[in-house]
Amino acid sequence: MIPYKTIFSVNRASKQPIYIQLTNQFIKLIKHGKLSPGNKLPGSRTLSELLTLHRKTIVACYEELILQGWIVSVPQKGTFVNADLPILKQRRLGNPKKQCDNKVSGFEFKRNPILDRSFPQKFDEDSMYVNDGISDSRLTPVNEIALIYRGLAVKKSTVNELWYGTTYGNILLRKNLVSYLNETRGLNIGVDNIMITRGSQMGMFLASQLLFADNGYVIIGETNYSSSDTTFEFSGAKVLRVKVDSQGLVAKEVKMLCEKYKVKAVYTTSHHHHPTTVTLSAERRIELLNLAKIYHFAILEDDYDYDFHYNHAPILPLASHDQNGNVVYVGSICKTVAPVYRVGYLIASKDFVDECARLRRFIDRQGDALLEMTFAKFIKQGSLDRHIKKVLKIYKSRRDLFCSLLKSELSEYLSFEIPKGGMAIWVILNKKYNWNLVTTEALEEKLIILEWKRYDCANLNHNGIRMGFAAYTEDEIYEFIRRFKSTMRRIDENI
Ligand SMILES: Cc1ncc(COP(=O)(O)O)c(C=O)c1O
Repeated sequence: MIPYKTIFSVNRASKQPIYIQLTNQFIKLIKHGKLSPGNKLPGSRTLSELLTLHRKTIVACYEELILQGWIVSVPQKGTFVNADLPILKQRRLGNPKKQCDNKVSGFEFKRNPILDRSFPQKFDEDSMYVNDGISDSRLTPVNEIALIYRGLAVKKSTVNELWYGTTYGNILLRKNLVSYLNETRGLNIGVDNIMITRGSQMGMFLASQLLFADNGYVIIGETNYSSSDTTFEFSGAKVLRVKVDSQGLVAKEVKMLCEKYKVKAVYTTSHHHHPTTVTLSAERRIELLNLAKIYHFAILEDDYDYDFHYNHAPILPLASHDQNGNVVYVGSICKTVAPVYRVGYLIASKDFVDECARLRRFIDRQGDALLEMTFAKFIKQGSLDRHIKKVLKIYKSRRDLFCSLLKSELSEYLSFEIPKGGMAIWVILNKKYNWNLVTTEALEEKLIILEWKRYDCANLNHNGIRMGFAAYTEDEIYEFIRRFKSTMRRIDENI
């Protein structure tokens, strides 16, 4: 018999009931093959004496094990490990340890190289990262958000929201966003024109699946947000690139391509082109809208950082001038509040929104209703506006400091223009240097430059990358510049 007395332990201080502690220990014995199918378990009286526990505890443990199917009780004979346990039959064939860490699947599946992307590794705590333009998570109003969330979660009426819900997203958030976006971005939409997504990325994915289901072409900038390239290609689109100058996408080139190809969509990060940060001019906006009407393509407008504009009022999105149902507008609070709150929206004609909501069901049955209700309230009570006003001031002064130090300390190595908005600077390294070398040398300074290649998917050799400034405090900006300068000096010494 198994030495139950020595191998079973009970922690009376634990919050877990004793009968559950015993149950889990029995399951472990069975899983590890110490108790085999068909083995007899001691009677409840015997075990209770052995373990000096109340007999009722043992009975409760056995009942739980029977309920879970680990053991069976045979009248007049006793209690046995279930002889039909399927897991045990499998395990007997192989090494039980190998089961848990399979590296290769035992079946075929499609692997798509388009999806390959290396993700940032974790470096030391004192490493600094060059980022793409992210917000400072230390400024996120987590307490306020948590308070609203908790308040809503414990409300009696919230119980109705815990069920399966609509694929369009929480109705209150949709309504509040309609008012908020109509007021702040000059849109003229109703609640039928909006669905909630988990960030802009989901909006882009849904739209692409519908737009490029029969293949077709998408026009993007010669430099472009690389994840959108991937999203389009993954959906079956063929990518065509046009020049991006100081006014944004060159509309003349869009027209030329439309004459030649069946263009289904033009993608634009109109407010601040990703990666170069230029704003699409008013003239180009009108040209694009006119072309969309003539050639019947969709304008996929990704307004990822609308809220951050420092020099003048933000320019209204193309969606605000859309008279003909050509614009699919995606945005989110992920850049404005924090990426972890996956709350975004897709705005378009009702028929397109309806189809996106139907498709969404099959990749994400619904959004996070509690979180959506939280942000409905956050917006309604003016907290989003307050947060934007607060961080806008901070980010503007960080942009100014970062740019002035880049100019005074590093202008012999690089060039840039002060971005009018957003959270990143488009920095061009002098042709004498290359990012490959800079990246390697920067590691010595604990300065981590990640994924710089993704800024040049079309191999233009522009030698540019984005440098995010918003996530650093003033002290951190000084330190960042110091590390970058040391890196460049080190390179100069070896040239
Ligand atoms: C240009 C652009 N579009 C979309 C996204 C995705 O944003 P979200 O976090 O809202 O999915 C990002 C994120 O970095 C971005 O830079």
